Amino acid sequence: MPDTKLFSTITQPDNGTRLAGQVIRQGGLVAFPTETVYGLGANGLDPDAVMRIFEAKGRPQDNPLILHVARKSDVKQLWRRVPDTARALMDEFWPGPLTLVCARSGAVPDEVTAGLDTVAVRMSDNKTALAFIRAAGVPIAAPSANTSGKPSPTCAQHVIDDLWGKVDVILDGGQCRIGMESTVLLLAKRPVILRPGAVTREQIESRIGAVEVAPSVLSPLAEGERAASPGMKYRHYAPDAQVIVASGTPSAAAGIIRREYDRAENDGRRCIILASRETQPFYRGRKCDIIGSSANMEEMCANLFSALRRYSGSADVIFAESVSTDELGLAYMNRLLRASGFTILNR
Ligand code: TXA
Ligand code: MG
Repeated sequence: MPDTKLFSTITQPDNGTRLAGQVIRQGGLVAFPTETVYGLGANGLDPDAVMRIFEAKGRPQDNPLILHVARKSDVKQLWRRVPDTARALMDEFWPGPLTLVCARSGAVPDEVTAGLDTVAVRMSDNKTALAFIRAAGVPIAAPSANTSGKPSPTCAQHVIDDLWGKVDVILDGGQCRIGMESTVLLLAKRPVILRPGAVTREQIESRIGAVEVAPSVLSPLAEGERAASPGMKYRHYAPDAQVIVASGTPSAAAGIIRREYDRAENDGRRCIILASRETQPFYRGRKCDIIGSSANMEEMCANLFSALRRYSGSADVIFAESVSTDELGLAYMNRLLRASGFTILNR
């Protein structure tokens, strides 16, 4: 069992990153902050090190990993060729919360791609992430640094809760700015968003034209259906509580939540409502947690995972309202629907 070392990089972004880089070159595991969520990193070119990630998270091995680079030019060693669409998107959105999936080169181990012929690559804009990846000198394979199935970690305490004693180093960079994982875009003939994130469909389309959104983004996979992104198969972001989503206009959704809340409470179940500042007045006398303003989806996204973790185990039922799936709303609803196991009430 590794003896986990914790470094704070909040005031000094490269504190601990030299040691972390060494740990990576020796085949160890490092949890590190990014602008989206914390990552659980290993040497992306070392199959044994990559296998340790799957063990530490309890992650199914057919779910491929993202390679994190510190320079745009590093993609040349990882992709068979760099498509023009990728170049255009890297110019516009890297470093930043956009992961690009292209045909892989021979340098990428099967353990990273779970045997697929493509590989996902991203360049974070977080200073600690960049200093750490530079110190390691290799691409860092990293999924989100949570136990598989749980909400992704948006601060170091979440990583400590899930992975203490299972990783060699944790770099604590404070709260993640975005709080939701990167957009994953497959650059096939017709580009497809496999997972929505802070770089929105609208932003991508303004740069490269029409893109599709994979059906699995907002609906469960049908029995026997093949996932374009294997990650979409699994229950995700699930707290230790039932999550119920109410849809409809704000007042209709609130009406559904009030009714179900009162029923559940009568049955002796502990309830919490994830509300916005605008909808909180609908819930007088009931327990609410305001996760942001519905006019500010950045704020709602940044707080969703920590709210799900906060009530994991301390509530039996978590109620939340659906939002429009435009812009950032698509990422928010993708995470919320998955956390609920697609439990949506519309009346
Ligand atoms: O923001 C993020 O992307 C964070 C931080 C740490 O960078 N990472 C992250 O990794 O969310 P992970 O492993 O939790 O999610 C990666 C997603 C999964 O849904 C996986 O199936 C998909 O990307 N993916 C990875 N490689 C793929 C590939 N070659 N083809 C299709 N999907 C892929
Ligand atoms: Mg994840």
